[in-house]
Amino acid sequence: MTEKLQAPRGTYDVLPEDFAARTALEAKAREVLGAAGYERIETPALEQTEVFARGVGASTDIVQKEMYTFDEGSESLTLRPEGTAPVCRAYVEHGMHKLAQPVKLWYLGAYFRRERPQAGRYRQFWQVGVEALGSDEPAVDAEVVVLLVTLLGEMGVEATLRLSSLGTPATRAAYRDELQAYLRANSDRLSAEVRERIDLNPLRAFDADHPGTREVMAGAPKLLDRLDASDREHFDEVRRLLDVAGVRYVVDPTLVRGLDYYTRTVFEVTSEQLGAQSGVGGGGRYDGLVEELGGPPTPGMGWAAGIERILLAGGRAPGAAAPVDLYVALGMGETEFALAHEARRAGLRAQLDLGGRSMKGALKQANRLGARYVAWVDGAGVQLRDMESGEQREVPRDEVVRNVLRGPGL
Ligand code: HAM
Repeated sequence: MTEKLQAPRGTYDVLPEDFAARTALEAKAREVLGAAGYERIETPALEQTEVFARGVGASTDIVQKEMYTFDEGSESLTLRPEGTAPVCRAYVEHGMHKLAQPVKLWYLGAYFRRERPQAGRYRQFWQVGVEALGSDEPAVDAEVVVLLVTLLGEMGVEATLRLSSLGTPATRAAYRDELQAYLRANSDRLSAEVRERIDLNPLRAFDADHPGTREVMAGAPKLLDRLDASDREHFDEVRRLLDVAGVRYVVDPTLVRGLDYYTRTVFEVTSEQLGAQSGVGGGGRYDGLVEELGGPPTPGMGWAAGIERILLAGGRAPGAAAPVDLYVALGMGETEFALAHEARRAGLRAQLDLGGRSMKGALKQANRLGARYVAWVDGAGVQLRDMESGEQREVPRDEVVRNVLRGPGL
């Protein structure tokens, strides 16, 4: 006996009944982001592995253990685990630094991470995201954050915004030394995992659930207290603009993101409507990434949010499926086929009964679909039935579509 075939672990089928909600989210994203001048971009699902190794950072969990990577001839390719590095790669490849800056882009697509699947965490998941490239103005940071808050609000997601600043790489390097020294001095109280990562990624210690580690981290030095004057000023201005926009946020100096490219502003949005995987979206500024990927020095700022998590947290009832204008019953012959085709060309939503149903079955199905009219061939003419009034009469074959277009009634 052959084994039952299933979608791979951590992946799922998007079924027809799921699409109303997803389409509504996509339309809302287009509306909110489009209104602010963001244009859509879509990069390939595959990239050269180097894009993420250099972009996301070799020491991150994503690059170390979550990428789907394979060799294609002499080249190493990876299913994209995130969208920022690919967008920056595209910005460089297409010379977008020559366009008016900042270049404002948004995207929606599938991403892949080999994570342990659980509620709200998948191996293939979907993100909607924005990237604004070419300006380091605090107004860009604030605008980008406001766009996420607006989109989530429109989708009915109640969320908390946490905000921090990581400063420049130099500030971070000095802080990293300071934090490493602090962690080493307290290493006997840390979890084994955190202890092992003191050299590689000491910042992740802030993320730990381990009680001893949490205690140590409560007294740890905070990067936010070490920012230089210009980074401090930048952060204060971002905050001031968010206040102007009436956006509420919590400054969280322990905020760490799972990607290495961030500089200055970082933020995350969480929702209590979700379980353990409470992160709905997150992002920040990445002023060194474009250069890291071989482009000219170009600041950038963006976010991405999980589609599954927005839909889980939002709980917006999906809209009803669009109703059918004309249902052509009792046969799949030339006349019926041509009638449905003609109706669609005239802009109607028309369905041909492809199930070979009896009259009774066809009327039932037409009702289920919310069809306004049902037509069937009857001798030389066509019977046309108004499903709302129950009225029925014979009309000439070539007047059916005109009758339906004219509706209601016959
Ligand atoms: P991220 O925080 O890794 O950031 O992912 C953003 C969002 O994607 C998360 O908040 C979560 O909603 C969703 N997500 C991530 N992993 C999974 C998963 N395994 N299953 C379901 N949902 C998931 C980034 O990806 C950055 N590229 C964001 C960014 C854009 N930063 C600057 N620009």
